[in-house]
Amino acid sequence: MKTYTVMLPAAGSGRRMGAGFNKLFLEMAGKPILIHTLDVFEQDPCCTGMILSVKEEEKRQIEEMLDRFGITKVVALVEGGAERQQSVAACIHAHRSGEIVLVHDAARPFIKREVIHELVDVAHVHGAAIAGVQVKDTMKYASVGIVESTADRSKLWAIQTPQAFRYDLLKEASEKAEAEGFLGTDESMIVERLGHPVRVVESTYDNVKMTTKEDLLFGEVLLKQRRQEDFS
Ligand code: CTP
Ligand code: MG
Repeated sequence: MKTYTVMLPAAGSGRRMGAGFNKLFLEMAGKPILIHTLDVFEQDPCCTGMILSVKEEEKRQIEEMLDRFGITKVVALVEGGAERQQSVAACIHAHRSGEIVLVHDAARPFIKREVIHELVDVAHVHGAAIAGVQVKDTMKYASVGIVESTADRSKLWAIQTPQAFRYDLLKEASEKAEAEGFLGTDESMIVERLGHPVRVVESTYDNVKMTTKEDLLFGEVLLKQRRQEDFS
């Protein structure tokens, strides 16, 4: 199994969660969401380092949290930007060497280790691999509220993070996007622009991003279920 470094954008404001502060500080089962996510990588022997982008004014609070919960693999805390892509770019700037890097939303605490390892393996061979699940709903184009057509669902994937890349490829993609003022909604988009093929690795439906209040309820249930599995 190959090793990797993970970059975690954590500099958002959590507007849709409506907590009035960064949603990553909200607790589930007595631990902040951020720590649940970092713990996955802390426990994975293949993860050699974590780079976090954070808001300047939250840096101290996060450092204290890392200390309190025994997170030891963070090698850099960099300042995030106004957009998620800029926060990831700050992580990329802070990283110098190493073969495979993962980008993972700090707001997705339920990623499974098997999926991470599969992504790293595929990225090692092919350069770029992203996590996704096949869509369950029927998908239609309806730009002005009137159905134009129905998409072929068998070809559609709902894309998540982690997204894994060879570092030099991600760096090149990020620099090109920055130079051309292109803003994507994930890292795959900036790599796709280079013409480089990106492989999809099947992930799990429970790798949800904690976005709204309902996701927290789902998260609590999932944590309870996983604890029961651990003790059985
Ligand atoms: N993020 C970031 N920098 C930004 C925006 C987002 O580092 N300028 C991070 C978030 O902290 C989160 C991840 O990117 O871990 C995914 O973003 P999202 O779920 O949209 O989080 P927020 O932007 O915080 O939430 P919202 O969009 O509801 O305000
Ligand atoms: Mg956001």
